[in-house]
Amino acid sequence: MLIAGNWKMFKGPAETRAFGIDLREADLPTSVEVVVCPPFVSLGAAAEVLAGTEIGVFAQNCHWDPEGAFTGEISAPMLRELGVYGTIVGHSERRQHFGDTDETVGRRCRAAIESGLHVIACVGETEHERSAGETEMVLRRQVAALDADDNLVIAYEPVWAIGTGKTATPEIARQAHETIKELLDVPVLYGGSVNAGNVAELLAHDAVDGALVGGASLDVESFAAICRAASQLS
Ligand code: 13P
Repeated sequence: MLIAGNWKMFKGPAETRAFGIDLREADLPTSVEVVVCPPFVSLGAAAEVLAGTEIGVFAQNCHWDPEGAFTGEISAPMLRELGVYGTIVGHSERRQHFGDTDETVGRRCRAAIESGLHVIACVGETEHERSAGETEMVLRRQVAALDADDNLVIAYEPVWAIGTGKTATPEIARQAHETIKELLDVPVLYGGSVNAGNVAELLAHDAVDGALVGGASLDVESFAAICRAASQLS
């Protein structure tokens, strides 16, 4: 069971350091793998404050080239140098607002893995795609851009459930996770409005291997409560 907190564009280095100190002291269950994904500028602080713990530090994105003329991008070797353990790629916010496509997500994912990073690759349909009956087709297309690897985890994040307070039903999550697992034999996390109150229900099925948590991961107590609830299931 893996619980990852995607902080999105929240918490600079000072806040990250304070969060890390509190997280180290929170009573985190040992049966759950715990990961935090701070913004780029806070990764160094997170890696430092969480060094020597079992808590993994992941970036939220990563470029496919090791270096080059790519203003505003960060490469996998640069992340490795900071002590970062892995990266998210293909989050729907990157796809929606910053032009990421299945092809660029695939390239980011391959480069990160080749550089020794672990990867959480995000997939998921929009509300429009779901109501048009295209969910399975979209998932198949997005997953086809990825290659199975021991260091790859997929996060199923229905776009309509992100930051909306709407969650997939456990049945919707199960169906999507099974579709993904038929295509690639990797762990699949659920993401979209996960909190301490709904995590047990969302993670109950065997096909759900953990959660990628946004808003509810920004508070130590709420994030620790999610980890504890998940540990009851693992
Ligand atoms: P929320 O948990 O805030 O809905 O965000 C989900 C998400 O996008 C995690 O990557």
